Amino acid sequence: MSAPNSNYDPKQVSALDAEAVASALAQALADIAAATDLELLKAARLEHAGDRSALALANREIGALPPAAKADAGARVGKARQEIKRALEERAVVLEAEAEERMLAEERVDVTLVVDDLPRGARHPLTALSEYVGDVFLAMGWEVAEGPELEAEWFNFDALNIPAEHPARGMQDTFFVAPEHSHLVLRTHTSPVQARTMLSRQPPIYVVVPGRVFRTDELDATHSPVFSQVEGLAVDEGLTMAHLQGTLLHFAQTMFGPDAKVRWRPSYFPFTEPSAEFDIWYPQAKGGPRWIEWGGCGMVNPAVLRACGIDESRYTGFAFGMGLERTLMFRHGITDLRDMFEGDVRFSQQFGVEF
Ligand code: DAH
Repeated sequence: MSAPNSNYDPKQVSALDAEAVASALAQALADIAAATDLELLKAARLEHAGDRSALALANREIGALPPAAKADAGARVGKARQEIKRALEERAVVLEAEAEERMLAEERVDVTLVVDDLPRGARHPLTALSEYVGDVFLAMGWEVAEGPELEAEWFNFDALNIPAEHPARGMQDTFFVAPEHSHLVLRTHTSPVQARTMLSRQPPIYVVVPGRVFRTDELDATHSPVFSQVEGLAVDEGLTMAHLQGTLLHFAQTMFGPDAKVRWRPSYFPFTEPSAEFDIWYPQAKGGPRWIEWGGCGMVNPAVLRACGIDESRYTGFAFGMGLERTLMFRHGITDLRDMFEGDVRFSQQFGVEF
């Protein structure tokens, strides 16, 4: 504080006396220090540095002072205002930094956080397998064919050389569809698609038919009333059992690896003559490596070719059929068929997207 100026009486200008200025300054500094956020600081600025603040008003009075008093009062008020300005600035820096820090903390995004997203589904391994089988045959120049699941008895049985009284009708536990005279069944195998294909076109025919089939079986670890098969049919000039064997060996190796082995056992199916069942070598079998049955096959019975409008004196054919679930079970060591039907996504997820 400068020494009192003897040329004027400070009491003439009460707002400008040293005490008043000091107390206005003290009050301002206290308010500024007490401002805990930018809003409060703004209020303090208005109060102590605004146009209507005590010191601004005092400043205005300086002009009216006698010249002798101007310098002294001006220096005092100016210094106080300067100090308030600096205090405001310093406090603002602190509060702005705090506000920014708070904002960063509040609006922080943790990019490593696991988001509560919709759980991912997975392709069912049977779908993937069925498409893979299609691809294996497409690569050999075959086509994928389809047929209806609700099938005419004639296609499911008669066309395949299984007449009404034939015991083979009883062998396949058929779901007949009411009324009885509808002559509709839920197809018991994919073989009727053989007849449908031959009736719709002439050889050369090379088709593979994945599809769902139905039998009146109870659901257990190895049986299900609904399951899938894949059927193969080739009709051309000069086809022999050797072609059938080569095709099945290749198929087995694409399914079970290059070392897969296949063996044939004589068997009987009305729609093939001769007929065979074929087994694959299953090293991972419970209880040790052994042969297990994979499907049935044979040379298409000339009676079937004839029923389907193919000249059996010119063409021969071979056919085969096997269960897709069984194939998946052997491939992946699945022991319970029901795992494939329960729809638990965790089961499907284990297979990934590739086959
Ligand atoms: N359809 C037969 C079944 O479901 C499997 C079968 C055997 C299909 C021999 C064929 C075949 O094409 O030639 O048991």
